[in-house]
Amino acid sequence: MCGIIGIVLRERGLLLKPLGTAIKECLKNLEYRGYDSVGFAILSNDGLVIRKSKGKIDDVTSKLSFDESDGVCGIGHTRWATHGKPSDVNAHPHIDCSGRIAVVHNGVIENYLEVREVLVGRGHEFKSETDTEVVAHLIEEYKKLGLKPYEAFKKAVSLLRGSYALSVLDLDEPSKIFFARNTSPLVIGIGEGVKFISSDIPAFLDYSRDVIVVQDYEVGYISRDVVVIEKLMDRNYEFDTNPPGTELVDHSSRVRHIDWTPEMARKGGYPHFMLKEIHEQPQAVTNTLISVPEELEETTKLVSKADRVLVVGSGTSYHASLIGGLLLNDIAGIKAHAVISSEMKWFINSVDEGDVVIAVSQSGETIDTLLALREAKRRGALTIALTNIIDSALARESHLTIYTRAGPEIGVAATKTFAAQVVTLTYMAIKLAERLRTAPEGRVSDLKSWLRELPNIMSAAISISESKVRALSGVTTIWRSIYYLGRGLGLPTSMEGALKLKEVAYIHAEAYPAGESKHGPIALVDDGFPVAFTILGGEVDLILSNVEEMRARGAWTLAVMPKGLERISRYFNYIFELHHLPYELTPAVYIIPYQLMAYYAAVARGYDPDKPRNLAKTVTVV
Ligand code: F6R
Repeated sequence: MCGIIGIVLRERGLLLKPLGTAIKECLKNLEYRGYDSVGFAILSNDGLVIRKSKGKIDDVTSKLSFDESDGVCGIGHTRWATHGKPSDVNAHPHIDCSGRIAVVHNGVIENYLEVREVLVGRGHEFKSETDTEVVAHLIEEYKKLGLKPYEAFKKAVSLLRGSYALSVLDLDEPSKIFFARNTSPLVIGIGEGVKFISSDIPAFLDYSRDVIVVQDYEVGYISRDVVVIEKLMDRNYEFDTNPPGTELVDHSSRVRHIDWTPEMARKGGYPHFMLKEIHEQPQAVTNTLISVPEELEETTKLVSKADRVLVVGSGTSYHASLIGGLLLNDIAGIKAHAVISSEMKWFINSVDEGDVVIAVSQSGETIDTLLALREAKRRGALTIALTNIIDSALARESHLTIYTRAGPEIGVAATKTFAAQVVTLTYMAIKLAERLRTAPEGRVSDLKSWLRELPNIMSAAISISESKVRALSGVTTIWRSIYYLGRGLGLPTSMEGALKLKEVAYIHAEAYPAGESKHGPIALVDDGFPVAFTILGGEVDLILSNVEEMRARGAWTLAVMPKGLERISRYFNYIFELHHLPYELTPAVYIIPYQLMAYYAAVARGYDPDKPRNLAKTVTVV
């Protein structure tokens, strides 16, 4: 949903490279947030230098001459188009009529048409179709009415409705970058002689690991010497020049040191982040299993008293939620349901103080999940965030937070964060079973010791699967459509596998409960139609009848299944045989061949798996 960056240096050349180059590098680290267009603005001796273009950074680097632009203060943007098609003119930064104010934005200004109309009435000329451009003209208008640049910026922000992370340069107040946030993520990075404002931490990890997360309705600026943050107190949306009420924020206690390293945000020899992150899963699980037991101590006490648990998430996080919901029922005997965040609205009437709502989100910023959490909290439910991002919106707004320790995930398709979420929810179910004595002691300790083995089993699954998947990529290039069928935990695992293939290889993939496939989906199956079966262990005979039904119609069948099931191997054209482990712990392992299959299918079809078309890593629009 767009990536923004702002950099202020104490002196020119401090980063040992031109500022334009630094902006380009930061934007590369944010490209997972959108890549429809790219642009930057730098305050130089000649005034405001602005360059922008449709296309990905690598494709337009020479056209934009990043490396030839230097200064001490600049902003940049990589776009995921919402208002206005991807084009040079719709690329950010956007400027006012005078060309003295440059704005980059992530989010959606909901009242932009109304504001635009007023501004056109006051003589402003708009060049783009974007919602963002109103911000530049609005600041200009308030300046014309007599406000100083920073006051005009605050006033403009107070008039905006919708979501925004904004970063603004104004020639009349040089060497400051103004910023504001509502809903869309924004973090400040503080380094030696340099300050950043950005949509996400990986943008500036090379220079700073001390961060302040900007909160909703905060405005402020970074300059060479200071960080100023104010809370915007009144948002009355009046078109007048009364300065909006603000309160200065003491942010000193909000500085967090991040333990991510710059290497984590680099490809480290892998051709793509997605492949690197698939390989990092054992480590992500190891790190999560080290930290999570302590964090879960308090949480499980509270969850054990719940009448009901709702596990809420979107996309991959929803699939992890489904696994968590099934395990809370199965292992811990807790009434639990998974709900898609954007569908929570239709469940919310029954939510009350007896409920616990666990909001699962890699980014902690997905707006659908945040809205679901807010509403559940308002109705008295205990809310728990499960997220990978420190101080993210979900973490701040929930009663309790559990952090996965997957490290930064840059590839748009979630992989290692899924593994970390699944393992955390599994551990939670086991802890609850222990506390509530809903499972025999032997089973609990057995699961715990298998959990410790999980990273090794995952590493083995990666090596076993990778060569087999490579050999398959010729076949996947002819697929147009595929079913993924499973039962129990095999269903969310199949759903996640299908999502990955759709996202990065653009192959239509549909997951279905295997037993339900004969009630409709089978109508599409004819000679050679690919069907993947996720077989986790306990459901072999049940699923076999579904395999037979598909084969009878000519389906080409693939299985992801445990070793040692030779008796059923003749039913499949292609088999991934994985370690045999307790059914409850299978999803984090059995998803691996599917992740790799999606990755290699994308590469074989000539797509960039790190930047799937039309997708953005953090979805901050409803
Ligand atoms: C799938 C994917 C998306 C996200 C979804 C939720 O590979 O990346 O489906 O899972 O947008 O994002 P988070 O987990 O940040 O809430």
